Amino acid sequence: FNLTVLISGNGSNLQALIDACASGALPNTKITHVISNRKSAYGLTRARNAAIPTSYHNLIPYKNKHPSTPEGTQLARAEYDADLASLILNSNPRPDIIVCAGWMHILAPTFLNPIAEAGVKVINLHPALPGEFAGANAIQRAYEAFQKGEVKRTGVMIHEVIAEVDAGAAIATQEVELKEGESLDDLETRIHAVEHVLIVEGTYETLEKLKKGE
Ligand code: GRF
Repeated sequence: FNLTVLISGNGSNLQALIDACASGALPNTKITHVISNRKSAYGLTRARNAAIPTSYHNLIPYKNKHPSTPEGTQLARAEYDADLASLILNSNPRPDIIVCAGWMHILAPTFLNPIAEAGVKVINLHPALPGEFAGANAIQRAYEAFQKGEVKRTGVMIHEVIAEVDAGAAIATQEVELKEGESLDDLETRIHAVEHVLIVEGTYETLEKLKKGE
């Protein structure tokens, strides 16, 4: 099976997938393309170190073609996303699964529709439980909610990607307890450790579904 991994930053979850393919935890599976929306993403270095082809898909040229109004930005993003889908669907080999691993760009229907029509699955890692803390800075928001006594635990999920942010059907989830007096840094470290396990588990589950033709 072939994976395309989308990243924006450190790439620690990408690294977990690279290691899982090498160790056989993801059998008959390889990462054939890593794409980042940020040129400086360290995950690109991780991919190069693993001899995985990389692409930097830059949003700036799309923004420069449109006025910096809400409508112009929406058009720029729609074109960017359509071209991202083409880049992926025209790559050889074409991926079976696209894994969003620390990918910080909301994917529009101009991406999701052609990808779905091509039968390619898209899954995403989100460091929160289904229905909680959707969007950016989820770990910090859970941390603050804990301080206010609003939650006692948070978690991590791998879910199918739909147009609504972090709202697709959950594939794998893991609760993470919140601890009195713990620093945000320490919580983030504990959560990232769970991410690195769950990203492999969620990808494995998705591959199993593909094998069954689901
Ligand atoms: C993860 O919590 C991810 O959801 C967020 O950044 C953290 C680490 O991502 N976007 P990475 O895989 O180390 O880039």
